[in-house]
Amino acid sequence: MSELLNKNILLGITGGIAAYKSAELCRLLIRQGAHIKVVMTPGACEFIQPLTFQALSGHQVYVDLFDAGANNAMDHIELARWSDLLLIAPASADFLAKLSQGYADNLLLTVALASQNTIAVAPAMNQQMYQDQATQQNLQLLNQRGVLIWGPDEGEQACGEIGPGRMLEPEVLSRHTVDFFKPGQLTGKHVMITAGPTREAIDPVRFISNRSSGKMGYELARAARDSGATVTLVSGPVCLQPPSQVNLLKCQSAEEMLNQVMSVITEQDIFIASAAVADYRPHQIADQKIKKTDETLTLPLVKNPDILSTVAHLYPRPFCVGFAAETTDLELNARNKLENKKLDLIAANWVNDEKSGFDVDDNALSVIWPGGMQELPHQPKSLIAEQLIDIIAKRFLLVE
Ligand code: C5P
Repeated sequence: MSELLNKNILLGITGGIAAYKSAELCRLLIRQGAHIKVVMTPGACEFIQPLTFQALSGHQVYVDLFDAGANNAMDHIELARWSDLLLIAPASADFLAKLSQGYADNLLLTVALASQNTIAVAPAMNQQMYQDQATQQNLQLLNQRGVLIWGPDEGEQACGEIGPGRMLEPEVLSRHTVDFFKPGQLTGKHVMITAGPTREAIDPVRFISNRSSGKMGYELARAARDSGATVTLVSGPVCLQPPSQVNLLKCQSAEEMLNQVMSVITEQDIFIASAAVADYRPHQIADQKIKKTDETLTLPLVKNPDILSTVAHLYPRPFCVGFAAETTDLELNARNKLENKKLDLIAANWVNDEKSGFDVDDNALSVIWPGGMQELPHQPKSLIAEQLIDIIAKRFLLVE
């Protein structure tokens, strides 16, 4: 078994009773060819001796943030650079809270903050602590930043209680690690995604916009990244944290979005237009704030460029995916757009349904391509995004 051959894995261990299981995890990872170095928090050393991990990994175990013998006191930077994956198992409630807030008051937290590579955490704690809102919010924040959350498991706990919070078994964590290093379907491919609304200025303080939150596009960017793609996210104004390891190009208006898209479009293999681009913009932007004088005000509007159609008419062009947000005749309208905009695939959703579409966490899609169709039933946008990226990848690889 050499599925982890020459992978550098930094195993972080925090203070919890599950720390004893990490000795087995360390052994399993090494058996599959990984190089393992271990960083322990002072709390972890209360549960298991660093000597155990030194013997298993064949390397010195790192504990002290202020180790005078370390290379120019730069252990945290060296270790962060060395690792392909930082796997923290067990990850205690206290550690997750500190990690989510960017604390750096022990060596493991400092390494995590200095790391540009993926971090995976295996939560392990009492079920009540796990289910507490504070822990849940910390995990959500970490997930949004691209930290992989592996587990926890449910069942009987060391404290005698039953519920979610047990660390995943070493065999399961080792399987997740192997899966993490398997090349994704879109490895080596460049994917561009537009997201969010656009803002079309009326005067220095007012604009025309829409209710798009950008959630779908941001989840698609995360899912494409997790499939191995190099992702460029062209985003209108939203209140979302961009996924880590994604190139973010910001814009406000449709014209700015078009410019950002065109600046790197020749490098893209796949273009996914999930942005809710304003169809029209004010003909002129007033230099000064418009005064309320008359009873009515007429704003002449002009049509915005259709970004998706522009990209789909390039030659050569990327594989083009559009969205159709409809309030009537969903399939018919989506099929017309597929044809008129010369798309390879379109994802259609109802926007008059309160449970899906704009500005909510869930969605349901009808995915249509020339000669085929697949329904993705109502579920969180994060899961819909994974399934849509999977369909896009399969269609793209077929026609490539
Ligand atoms: O024609 P309609 O606006 O319904 O088409 C929706 C699709 O076209 C979406 O994928 C959207 O991102 C894209 N679009 C665009 N530029 C526009 C209008 C829509 O890229 N100006």
